Amino acid sequence: MAAKIFCIVLFLALSDFLLRVSAIRPAIVENIVTEVRPIDSTATLNCSVALFSNPPERVQWYKLLPGQSDKAISAGTKITEQNPILQGDMLKYEVRSRPGRTVFIPDMGYTDVTTFTLLIRRLTNLDAANYKCRINVPGSPADSPEVVATLIVPREPFINPAEVTNNQVVEEGANVTLKCSATSEPPAHISWIRANGLPLNIPGRPQRVYQSEVTLINVTKYDRGVYRCFANNNVGYGAKHDVRIDVNYAPSIRGARLHNLYLQAPERNYEITLECVSTGYPDPEVTFYSGTVIPRPDQPLPDSQVIKNQFPFSVERLRSQGAAGTHVYEFFYALRIKNVRDTHLGNYTCVAKNKYGVDAAVLKLANEEVCQGPLCFGTSVEQSANSPGAGHRSAGSCAVFSGLAIAAFMMRRLL
Ligand SMILES: *[C@@H]1O[C@H](CO)[C@@H](O)[C@H](O)[C@H]1NC(C)=O
Ligand SMILES: *[C@@H]1O[C@H](CO)[C@@H](O)[C@H](O)[C@H]1NC(C)=O
Ligand SMILES: *[C@@H]1O[C@H](CO)[C@@H](O)[C@H](O)[C@H]1NC(C)=O
Ligand SMILES: *[C@@H]1O[C@H](CO)[C@@H](O)[C@H](O)[C@H]1NC(C)=O
Repeated sequence: MAAKIFCIVLFLALSDFLLRVSAIRPAIVENIVTEVRPIDSTATLNCSVALFSNPPERVQWYKLLPGQSDKAISAGTKITEQNPILQGDMLKYEVRSRPGRTVFIPDMGYTDVTTFTLLIRRLTNLDAANYKCRINVPGSPADSPEVVATLIVPREPFINPAEVTNNQVVEEGANVTLKCSATSEPPAHISWIRANGLPLNIPGRPQRVYQSEVTLINVTKYDRGVYRCFANNNVGYGAKHDVRIDVNYAPSIRGARLHNLYLQAPERNYEITLECVSTGYPDPEVTFYSGTVIPRPDQPLPDSQVIKNQFPFSVERLRSQGAAGTHVYEFFYALRIKNVRDTHLGNYTCVAKNKYGVDAAVLKLANEEVCQGPLCFGTSVEQSANSPGAGHRSAGSCAVFSGLAIAAFMMRRLL
């Protein structure tokens, strides 16, 4: 009887054991966290397995390359892939195993866990890939567990100037496509802005657009300027690249003053400055003419009326500025007449010309009894002493000054 009971107990125990053994398959018991490591450092990928009675050689690491078959790196702790020797006698790959931990795993109970750590040294961008840990169960690929891990080797974005739109000069009305791309890990966000902060000429008129490619439709002179591409992936400071877009357009010119009317008292050694403001691309050539000149396509401009840059005239290009934030450059041209004479009164025309067209503005210099402008007081004394053209009236205008000034003036005249 006792033997019979023993036999049943033994049978039950044995069958339970056999059932459990048949249910026990090797397993990878933890996920592998994504490893983010900078260039030149060492990555460690841990694969923790419950092998049960499987030999360690069945644990294999693979490198997964897009479009290629998986490349086995190791079997157990043995490296099966080419293993270059790095500086300092280190090997590129190494697998270390740390056996014998007993870990409680849900569904498995207390289990012996061995960790196979893949070390990849001296990381380069080529090491950034997915890696797979697999327990190869012979004859049973479906029962061979595997887990994929990602190794990210972050890389600051680098914008290759060859892959960015070059500086361009385009005609008004053209469409301009701005392209930008960067090499980086992880992939960078590409965005475009205008260096002057103005909205981009695309639907919605945003100030910044997160696209690697932007097409400006039907550009005008206001689209001229520097466009800046940014590449950012939160590694380092990101990268940027500037592209200059110039738009050819016909000049336009206007007088700098309201009504283009200038007043001065003639024949009293006063001066006047007439100003025009021009824009156009390429930068137009600006010429002052005496009288009213109306440019016509079929007629040359009257050369005889060109004002030459010689006394009492001087012509200066003064300054450029973006017209009220448009990034369209304007140039101020000043025609200065020292010692305004009666014969200088009348119209002047400034003409701006480039190969895309011509434009003109008429300025008028008219008679006025009282000296105009900030230089009325000082110039009458100074210039009457220096200017050969100073007439007898200049002496009269000086009479109002102090005796000392007159004395100094007389002395200078005598010398
Ligand atoms: C891998 O395992 C080693 C040894 O247990 C540990 O020091 C390391 O932090 C682990 N690495 C990761 C990425 O879990
Ligand atoms: C610019 O693009 C618009 C819209 O795609 C198109 O209608 C137009 O013809 C293009 N203009 C030029 C000069 O290619
Ligand atoms: C392009 O711009 C010109 C003038 O700025 C305008 O007359 C024309 O309708 C525009 N064309 C398109 C397709 O937007
Ligand atoms: C001077 O210019 C004004 C305005 O453009 C014009 O009305 C006037 O006829 C011009 N005078 C002469 C003499 O050309």
